[in-house]
Amino acid sequence: MATPLKDRNRAEFKRYKEDVEREGKSFYPYAILHDSVMSLVVVGVIIGLACVWYFTADKTDAGILGPWYTDEADPGTVNFVPRPDWFFYFLFYLLRIFKWPNTVVLGTVGIPTLLLVLLVLLPFYDRRPERRITRRPVALVAALLVVLSMGVLTWKGATAKEALGSELIASGTVDKWAQEQGFQNDPVAVAGSKLFAESGCLNCHTYLGSGAGNLGAPDLSAIGATGRDVAFFKSYVSNPAQYGNNVMISYGYLGDENLTKIATFLQASKGGG
Ligand code: HEC
Repeated sequence: MATPLKDRNRAEFKRYKEDVEREGKSFYPYAILHDSVMSLVVVGVIIGLACVWYFTADKTDAGILGPWYTDEADPGTVNFVPRPDWFFYFLFYLLRIFKWPNTVVLGTVGIPTLLLVLLVLLPFYDRRPERRITRRPVALVAALLVVLSMGVLTWKGATAKEALGSELIASGTVDKWAQEQGFQNDPVAVAGSKLFAESGCLNCHTYLGSGAGNLGAPDLSAIGATGRDVAFFKSYVSNPAQYGNNVMISYGYLGDENLTKIATFLQASKGGG
């Protein structure tokens, strides 16, 4: 009969203690100290580089490590498409797979947290002393799957097209909205739908399956079914803050005529079908 796992682990542990006694230093405190010092050095280098960057440059002068920034940030921009750095593409793509609001927490917090917990707990459930990779099929397959899926998600995130308004108009998607919602004979609403697509509303909102679904912005496909009139939507879009919405910027700059078009479009959006 094979030796029980528990006994084998005991034997391994005893052998480790003997090894340490004979020729080595124990993990605690030596290796811990070693790691802590190295980590501090790395953090120190990063802080040092940040200081060199900050104090040798300014808004326009490149200094040693580049200028502070090239273009001043424009808080009024409506067509900026936010994209993360490449190493977050896999999370970014998860956000697209999971739609706001029902499953997005699962996709962005639930799954990554679960995977991290599994990783932290690894020493507690993977207790076999076997280290040869060919004898560890489960671990091998799991590792390959993680690498593969992160690779695929990173690739998909890197090549994902943003649903920008001009694309939606060019592909005929916006015309389809009019058909689906039944306002194709209302030229003001049709003009409003194009403005809606072009004005960056879809960077936050979704509409009949298009758009980003960001920052808690609701789907607007059936916003006209809530019984509010054109005047209300005009006032809302031109000054969302007065309705307690401090996420959405004020679109008053679009002008009265354009606001009327967008509001008419919103009022005519009753969910389609
Ligand atoms: C920066 C993100 C963002 C952008 C861009 C944005 N919105 Fe919003 N919008 C929101 C959020 C968040 C809410 C929900 C606020 C709340 O629930 O209090 C909202 C709410 C609304 C509502 C009210 C919905 C309701 O059920 O009461 C309307 C109508 C609306 N937006 C229209 C638009 C239009 C039209 C545009 C483009 C001209 C636009 N939004 C652009 C974030 C955005």
